[in-house]
Amino acid sequence: MKEKHVSEAIEFRRSVRIYDNSKQIESTKVKQCIYQSTLSPSSSNMQLWEFHHIVSNKKKKEIIKNCFNQSAAKTAKQFVIIVVRKDLWKKRLKSNIDYIKLNLNKNNIDERYYKKALKYYKNIVPIVYNDFYGLIGFIKKISSYFFGLFSPIYREVSSTDIRIVSQKSAALAAQSFMISMSGIGYDTCPMEGFDSLRIKKNLNLPSNTEISMIIACGIRHKKGIFGSRFRVPMDEVYSFH
Ligand SMILES: Cc1cc2nc3c(=O)[nH]c(=O)nc-3n(C[C@H](O)[C@H](O)[C@H](O)COP(=O)(O)O)c2cc1C
Repeated sequence: MKEKHVSEAIEFRRSVRIYDNSKQIESTKVKQCIYQSTLSPSSSNMQLWEFHHIVSNKKKKEIIKNCFNQSAAKTAKQFVIIVVRKDLWKKRLKSNIDYIKLNLNKNNIDERYYKKALKYYKNIVPIVYNDFYGLIGFIKKISSYFFGLFSPIYREVSSTDIRIVSQKSAALAAQSFMISMSGIGYDTCPMEGFDSLRIKKNLNLPSNTEISMIIACGIRHKKGIFGSRFRVPMDEVYSFH
């Protein structure tokens, strides 16, 4: 099957709540879509995400139950669960630093760019991500408020802010995944209706991780889309400055 153009894939994507039981999807193709979603941008390229690909019947049963048996989950052939791993920030920071050091003398990109990036990862990123039960974040927030009275400053420094920053990047990956799936004629439904605590137990995840989205996957049943697409008018959400 010919892959769709991006605009066709975006148009084709709908949240599908009933999947055709007689139509299978290939795990290798889903995995390729997950790979494509890892090409999404992430804040400071920290990639604080993980993708859990659920295929086995045993795991699927657990996930369905903890998605409250909702229709999209009950009929899904597979699931992709996007997990936010804020707890891995030191590891990802090191990977970024190692990558820059490795490429410092290799690439034909301006050396000054790499040196600047190295400084950023060594000095700024730890300030943003370091926290101690929200205390350091609180102090950073107050400091940024006062320094911000005199000049523009980055203000998203509290532990809640960092959670949001990490969730934003994970959500971008989710959308890339769904568009990639759509491109090959596979359907999805993003879900946040689930018991996050139980899902984390199902996946053996530490308690300080977060589930961004559970994405049901399959091929749409002819009655699988509930109603025509509704969007508020463009002029309600679009401002031209
Ligand atoms: C973060 C997020 C969470 C969602 N959670 C659910 C869910 O738990 N169950 C469900 O059936 N649909 C869920 N949806 C799908 C939305 O209801 C759907 O995207 C919206 O109605 C627009 O329809 P469309 O995706 O077909 O364009 C979710 C969508 C997003 C972005």
